[in-house]
Amino acid sequence: MTRKRHPRFRRANRAPYRPYGTARPSAQPALVQAAVPYDRAPDRRLTKRRGDDRKLPLAMTTSSSSTIIPNAMRLAKRIQNVTPSLTLAIEAKAKRLKQEGVDIISFSAGEPDFDTPEVIKRSAIDSLNKGFTKYTPASGIIELRKAISEKLARENALSYTADQIVVSCGAKHAIYNVLQVLVEEGDEVIIVSPYWLSFPEMVALAGGKSVILKTEFKDGYLPRASAIEKLVTKRTKALILNSPSNPTGSVMSKELLSAIAQVAKTKSFFILSDEIYEKLLYDGKVHYSIGALDPEILERTITIGGASKSYAMTGWRLGFLAAPKAVAEACASLQSHSTSNPTSFAQAGYLEALRSGESEVKRMRQIFEKRRDLIFRIVSGIPKLKPFKPSGAFYLFIDISEIKLASLQFSERLLEEAKVAVVPGIAFGDDHAIRISFATSEQLIEDGMTRIREWLKKI
Ligand SMILES: Cc1ncc(COP(=O)(O)O)c(C=O)c1O
Repeated sequence: MTRKRHPRFRRANRAPYRPYGTARPSAQPALVQAAVPYDRAPDRRLTKRRGDDRKLPLAMTTSSSSTIIPNAMRLAKRIQNVTPSLTLAIEAKAKRLKQEGVDIISFSAGEPDFDTPEVIKRSAIDSLNKGFTKYTPASGIIELRKAISEKLARENALSYTADQIVVSCGAKHAIYNVLQVLVEEGDEVIIVSPYWLSFPEMVALAGGKSVILKTEFKDGYLPRASAIEKLVTKRTKALILNSPSNPTGSVMSKELLSAIAQVAKTKSFFILSDEIYEKLLYDGKVHYSIGALDPEILERTITIGGASKSYAMTGWRLGFLAAPKAVAEACASLQSHSTSNPTSFAQAGYLEALRSGESEVKRMRQIFEKRRDLIFRIVSGIPKLKPFKPSGAFYLFIDISEIKLASLQFSERLLEEAKVAVVPGIAFGDDHAIRISFATSEQLIEDGMTRIREWLKKI
């Protein structure tokens, strides 16, 4: 016998239909809605697959009327699975408050505060003046792909030919392409937590399932190869690595990468190695690319890099993927039907960055290291905050478990009461932490940390 639910009960659980672009009616603030921890909701997609319609406007009637909603007016299920970026939401809120005249100090940005180096800007401007304003090959101009291939050989000991490289509109776009071409409906992708918040969303957009491997402060936020192995199933398609890591700044050693590579080879899955922060390393740490370990692992590795973080070029939207030929070709094909080429004159700027940007990178790295030392020293002295010392990137991940507030409550109250914007750890899969970006001036670091210290005394 099949159990039928009462029609009124069914309606009560349904979200009223909302035409595209209209606000989501809710008693909760938008930031709360955005924060869905993947490790705490492992069956989130499962529930949806079972037909839970609380979030999906699949209903043919609304709770307030019996209007028939034509099929054509509904959003695709694919997008219903996605939550907007919490970091971007917080940054937008902080900017809005600033514009309204509120004295906000924001540590939420995921980008260097430096301007793009002059030599890079000049090169793009020159190319514009010379009329370099037309379509380029979808995967990027050959000069740029060759320069990336040479950079990878020189700096990373990676041997990818130019035709194994696709230049995309940011590393984010490159990762999106890769997941779209590799992941089938129901495939599993292992993600190390705390993770960059777009990884699980992009896996979901590809129809895949994120399998979260939680790492701890006490282990340096690094995974064990044996723990990865335990998560591998017949459906495992890929493992995403991100070293140096956003949000923790942890850096993987060559030994750890070798152990992980061994698992990938034995169990046979791809490694998507996001190395976007490779140039921002501290304490003399060295960056290793997993694909450089041996030819067999290179055949399973997609290396991601880009201009955004190293050369302060976030707005230019330039990143790349380097992959086994079949994967690169598939990504190029996908890109040719989605965005086509990355912006022509921006590519000219990136080419110049690769040719002559290193001294600028060094300069910015040194400044970041000084700020890292400053912020780590100050936060270490604030009672109840336990900062993790980052070896790379420009984020300080702080354990707040001694303060009995969930990370989102903590961040919202901090913004409301002390006018300081930080990102709640829940966005990265850890509800007992917050992330502070130190891509900001020393003065703002000092002022902001003083506000946090004073605020903590009051709560
Ligand atoms: C780990 C990680 N990967 C990729 C990206 C995307 O960088 P891009 O600006 O090149 O798209 C970011 C940006 O915040 C990031 O933190």
